[in-house]
Amino acid sequence: MAKTVDADIKVGVVHTTINQRGYYMKKCFLPFLLMGFTALPALADPATDRVAASRGAVKELQTTLVGELQAAMKAGGPTNAIEVCNTKASAIATELSKKNGLQIGRTSLKIRNAKNAPDAWETKVMKEFETRKAKGEDPAALEHSEVVTEGGKKTFRYMKALPVAQGMPCPVCHGEKIDPKVRAKLEKLYPQDKAVGFKVGDLRGAVTIKQPL
Ligand code: HEC
Repeated sequence: MAKTVDADIKVGVVHTTINQRGYYMKKCFLPFLLMGFTALPALADPATDRVAASRGAVKELQTTLVGELQAAMKAGGPTNAIEVCNTKASAIATELSKKNGLQIGRTSLKIRNAKNAPDAWETKVMKEFETRKAKGEDPAALEHSEVVTEGGKKTFRYMKALPVAQGMPCPVCHGEKIDPKVRAKLEKLYPQDKAVGFKVGDLRGAVTIKQPL
C-alpha cells in the first residue's frame, strides 16, 4: 500500500517538475526563440545582407559624388563642376565597385551620357518607380532588389531611385532653366543630352547595382 502511495507521489512530483520546467522553458526561452525567428534570418540571409551592402554602397557613392560636386561648384561654379561629373563620376563608381565586389553605376530614363543607358531590366524598374511615386510612395525610399537569371547565370540586382531633393544642386545642370554658359558646355560634351527639365521631386534616375552570384 505504502509503496503505491510513494509511487503516486513520485509520479506527481515528476509531473510537477516537468510542468515547471515546461513553464520556465516557455517563460525564459520563448523570447530567445522569438528573437531567433525574427533576428536570425536578418543576420544570416544572404539576400538581406546583399540589400544592406547595396544600400551602403549607394550611400557612399552619393555622398562622395555630391561632396565632390559641391566642392567643385564652390571652387569654380557649375561649369567647373561639370568636369567632376564628366570625368570623376564613372571613376568613383569603378573604385566603389572594386571595393565592394559589385558593379555600381547610375542610369536614367532620360540620359545625359549614352554610357549610362539602362538595360531592359533597369528601364522596367525605373518605370515601376515612376508608377509607385505616382501612387504616393516616398521617392527617397524607392528601391527594388531581385535575383535574375542572365545568360544562364544568377545575378543579384538592386536599384535605388535618385529624386531631385529640395536644396540639392541637381537643377543647375538638369533643371528647366539652365544658365546659357552651363548649357553650352553641356551641349558640347553631350550633344545627345536628354537629362534636362527636371524639377524638385522628380526622379532624375537611379543608382544600379549588379552582382553575379
Ligand atoms: C554641375 C553639373 C551637374 C550637377 C549639379 C548635377 N549633375 Fe548629374 N550629371 C552631370 C553630368 C555632366 C552628367 C554626365 C556624367 C557622365 O558623363 O557620366 C550627369 C549624370 C548624371 C546621372 C547619370 C545618368 C545620365 O544621365 O548620364 C545621374 C543619375 C545624375 N547625373 C543625377 C544627378 C542628381 C540626382 C544631381 C543632384 C544631386 C545631379 N545629377 C547634379 C552634371 C551635373
